[in-house]
Amino acid sequence: QGRTPLMAGNWKMNLDHFEAAHLVQKLAWTLDDAKHDFDAVEVALLPPFTDLRSVQTLVDGDKLGFKYGAQDLSQYDKGAYTGEISGAMLAKLKCTYVVVGHSERRQYHAEDDAVVNAKTKAALRHDLIPIVCVGEGLEVRKEGRQVQHVLAQLDADLAEVPAEKAASIVIAYEPVWAIGTGETATPDDAQEVCAAIRKRLGELYSADVAAAVRVLYGGSVKAQNVAAIMAQEDVDGALVGGASIDPGDFASIVRYRD
Ligand code: G3H
Repeated sequence: QGRTPLMAGNWKMNLDHFEAAHLVQKLAWTLDDAKHDFDAVEVALLPPFTDLRSVQTLVDGDKLGFKYGAQDLSQYDKGAYTGEISGAMLAKLKCTYVVVGHSERRQYHAEDDAVVNAKTKAALRHDLIPIVCVGEGLEVRKEGRQVQHVLAQLDADLAEVPAEKAASIVIAYEPVWAIGTGETATPDDAQEVCAAIRKRLGELYSADVAAAVRVLYGGSVKAQNVAAIMAQEDVDGALVGGASIDPGDFASIVRYRD
């Protein structure tokens, strides 16, 4: 299919900068022992903002194969926005990725699609790759409207994003009912929505963009279920929460082909 799989670990609000260094080192040793080819399966670490500098120092200093990024950014580039972090600041720390529109931001910080769209464009202004999260809640799933719901989010979140930028974006399909609950979407559930996302990218942009964009699945991904999810044609990787802060578990997820 030509798309490089991406395993992204969203640490959420876990690990201080000291613990972060331990995790990166343990993960590096484990993947080194397994002779992991980072060009074959890309690995991204998404720590809290306060850990980014120590992750950068380790990754750059020791020439580790990880990419890294942040879990959020401001829609603004600079100014009087107390508590916010700009795309320029993340770019300066050599971040590759930034998560945008995670369901926890939508739920606890009232981020709507207009904000997610502004943040997506802010990331692209600073040459960061946004990992744009979409996904339905339990009610929508019960009503069988998941595809419709996710495509409406996608349309709004990508509004005014030009085709030349769209090909580099990563989309993460995360059914809200499967996040941190132990409930995983079945591989077929994941494929249904990921395929619909890719089809819509074709309609919004072009067949080339649809073929290039990586669509991840997220929601209780573990070593035990990752291979079945990755076997789906339109799933190009995983956005991993809980299991990403255990080096053994995350290494097993990264090594899903073993
Ligand atoms: O960003 C990651 C997702 O929210 C999934 O989290 O693997 O803990 O269910 P989880």
